[in-house]
Amino acid sequence: MSMVYALENKNESERLERQSLQSAYQLEEELKAIRLTSPQRILDAGCGTGLVARALAEKFPQAKVEGFDYSQERLEYAKSLAQTDRQANIHYFSGSLESIPAGNETYDLITCRYVFEHLTDPLKVLQEFHRLLKPNGQVHIINFDGLFFNLYPLSKELNTLLETIKNKAPADLMVGRKIPSLMKQAGFKEAHWSVTAHGFSDEKLVQEQKMNEERLGFAVPLLAQVFGSETQAQRFKKLYIEEMMQPGSTLFYNKFIVQGVK
Ligand SMILES: C[S@@+](CC[C@H](N)C(=O)[O-])C[C@H]1O[C@@H](n2cnc3c(N)ncnc32)[C@H](O)[C@@H]1O
Repeated sequence: MSMVYALENKNESERLERQSLQSAYQLEEELKAIRLTSPQRILDAGCGTGLVARALAEKFPQAKVEGFDYSQERLEYAKSLAQTDRQANIHYFSGSLESIPAGNETYDLITCRYVFEHLTDPLKVLQEFHRLLKPNGQVHIINFDGLFFNLYPLSKELNTLLETIKNKAPADLMVGRKIPSLMKQAGFKEAHWSVTAHGFSDEKLVQEQKMNEERLGFAVPLLAQVFGSETQAQRFKKLYIEEMMQPGSTLFYNKFIVQGVK
């Protein structure tokens, strides 16, 4: 099974920026719970186009903010979006989250948003965050749980395809609920969490339909490996979009916000 990012596509940077304009994905609410008042060094892990890094550069003007991701393309895009001096001072560097090239006890705060479902070894990444944090440093993780699965009703055919994804896809779409327990295993002395359901109806449903058309379109190469053919991947995309838009259907995602203290 391929290890590339499931949504790898030349248009993924633009999609990530547009996604955060929608109410279910708003950053401000997600970052409110950060408890530190004056962190000096901050790492946004899996920063993509730098949405969180830019927000933190404004929120904590005294801090040195860094963004890390394995996509050079998204990091270049992130740099091009800087609008203030603080944002222009963000240092972006690339590599894999399983082995981040930075010394022990470097950061006061590590953020990681919408990344965990893509990780093959989330415990290893949390151990890496633990290594990189100063004593009493904090990690702030934002991740959905149940993406694609909390849709009702489901046809038998779509249900079978979703079960195949659950069993065979390298992405773990139920990872949100697992993060607090993994954090404890990784050695964090505290793990606090909250969860909020985001439902999609009316205008929000139409916006989410557009998001899912893009996500599922970008994920076709990976879904083709999961289902064994591109035809089945396209079939899944078509059925999912049709069924989420059926009158009377319900669709919701649970958003976990998890904070760990080293
Ligand atoms: C859904 S995007 C989220 C980006 C950004 N945090 C945001 O909130 O918009 C996930 C990002 O994680 C990165 N990523 C996924 N797995 C990674 C890994 N093992 N190492 C480094 N980056 C990774 C991808 O390249 C992608 O940019």
